Amino acid sequence: MNVHWQPAKYDSLPLPHEGWGARVVAGFDFRGDETVIDAGCGTGRDAEYALWNLPRGRIIGLDASPSMQAAFTSRFAHEERAKILAADLSEPWPVDAACADAVMSVAAFHWLPSHDRVWHNVAAALKPGGVVRVDAGGEGNLVRLLEVVDAVGASSSLPEWNYAGVEDTLGQLRAAGLVPVSVELREEPAYFDNDEVYADYLRSVVLHKLSEIERMQVAGLMGDRCVDYVRLEVTAVKPG
Ligand SMILES: C[S@@+](CC[C@H](N)C(=O)[O-])C[C@H]1O[C@@H](n2cnc3c(N)ncnc32)[C@H](O)[C@@H]1O
Repeated sequence: MNVHWQPAKYDSLPLPHEGWGARVVAGFDFRGDETVIDAGCGTGRDAEYALWNLPRGRIIGLDASPSMQAAFTSRFAHEERAKILAADLSEPWPVDAACADAVMSVAAFHWLPSHDRVWHNVAAALKPGGVVRVDAGGEGNLVRLLEVVDAVGASSSLPEWNYAGVEDTLGQLRAAGLVPVSVELREEPAYFDNDEVYADYLRSVVLHKLSEIERMQVAGLMGDRCVDYVRLEVTAVKPG
């Protein structure tokens, strides 16, 4: 599905993505001189966190959305160590083979219809010994929210998200030549402070294509201003 990402809105909301990104970055043990790819980098929030830990390193962001690419470029207008490349993560990546010490990705993989090709792209981009850490919506994500969307008759307006589980991900990692270190599902429901912020979040981040009336019905039926996230968290290495 073609989503029109709104970078300014996206960065202005209280995003649980910030915590997911911080977890992904914190899990690396950077020396400080690495080349890191941020796959589905969006506006570059997590690339910026990562750069704090890479005083002699660099970040290559990959993203398919022109509006997100523009936001990333603007964020790093005065930072030579960050660049963004237009890329569909499901197609071969526009980077040199074995160019990256690390690949990170936050809240992007569930937008990709098949993960097989993406893990192969990760493996191709990593140097031997390189590490990949991914956060994405995982199996069981948004079950309650999606039931409510169905109850208001709006399921046909949803994208086809790909919420992978542990076993399928382990198989895909191994098939791509990556060695799993940890693959886990973690429940992390997000709760919003008031109805306005909740409505804005649903409109801008989760339920882009529903009508305003449908979103209001969903919010009313949810009742607790919750988005019931389940995260798939992956760490794997390319054998050295
Ligand atoms: C929910 S946003 C997450 C952005 C950022 N990682 C963050 O956590 O704020 C998902 C991102 O994935 C990108 N994306 C979705 N499908 C993609 C694809 N097939 N190839 C490249 N990027 C894609 C979108 O453009 C968007 O920037």
